[in-house]
Amino acid sequence: MIRQEQMCVVHQQKIATNIFELTLKGQLVQDMKQPGQFVHIRVSNQMEPLLRRPISISSINNEALEFTMIYRAEGSGTVLLSKKKPGDIVDVLGPLGQGFPVDKITAGEKALLVGGGIGVPPLYELSKRLVERGVQPIHVLGFQSLDVVFYEELFKQLGETYIVTVDGSYGHKGFVTNVLDKIADDFVMYYSCGPTPMLAALEKMYPHKEGYLSFEQRMGCGIGACFACVCETTEKTDVDYLKVCSDGPVFQSGVIRV
Ligand code: FES
Repeated sequence: MIRQEQMCVVHQQKIATNIFELTLKGQLVQDMKQPGQFVHIRVSNQMEPLLRRPISISSINNEALEFTMIYRAEGSGTVLLSKKKPGDIVDVLGPLGQGFPVDKITAGEKALLVGGGIGVPPLYELSKRLVERGVQPIHVLGFQSLDVVFYEELFKQLGETYIVTVDGSYGHKGFVTNVLDKIADDFVMYYSCGPTPMLAALEKMYPHKEGYLSFEQRMGCGIGACFACVCETTEKTDVDYLKVCSDGPVFQSGVIRV
């Protein structure tokens, strides 16, 4: 069920340059079932009501009715959001979209999780759920540079983790594909979230593996009504387009034309 709720800020901290981690509390957390779903946040000041911003969910605590999200403060709305303190209220619509399936892989099997930049956060809840099922995750996480790397330790606690930076200031230098070339492909399934060129590269590298990709797309309504997020599909599907907000953001590999 999708709800709109005035949620309460429990905690907020800066975890890297312009990157913030925000925990909110409220009833709609009851309906957060799948990793990879997102919320649509409205932040406004009295002078200027702003549009909603889609932000992915990075971890869910159903018992405490709390969830955490990680976002980059880069526009007026998210900069305003980064100023929120414990006890403040945030207008949230969610949970939205279709997330990553976790029940298609069994205990003892390996899963590859590949994230790029602000696409890394939803992989954290996904990895926790996979570990709970006895699956062994391998994380390959790409960032621009050392100053925007986050959650390395948390991912390491869950499984094998490789950090990649484009400028080589930390971890492996280059793109996630440089590391993927070197690691064994004994995983049965892969999951990814990040820029479309990265998702396209993964599809090309692993044509015979089952994969689930979360697409980043500009959004309007977030609930399937405005068509702002439409994506072209491949000939594998019997429809010409799908909406990233409501049919996705997670799609099986090969479904969206990349
Ligand atoms: Fe409006 Fe997807 S954002 S239909």
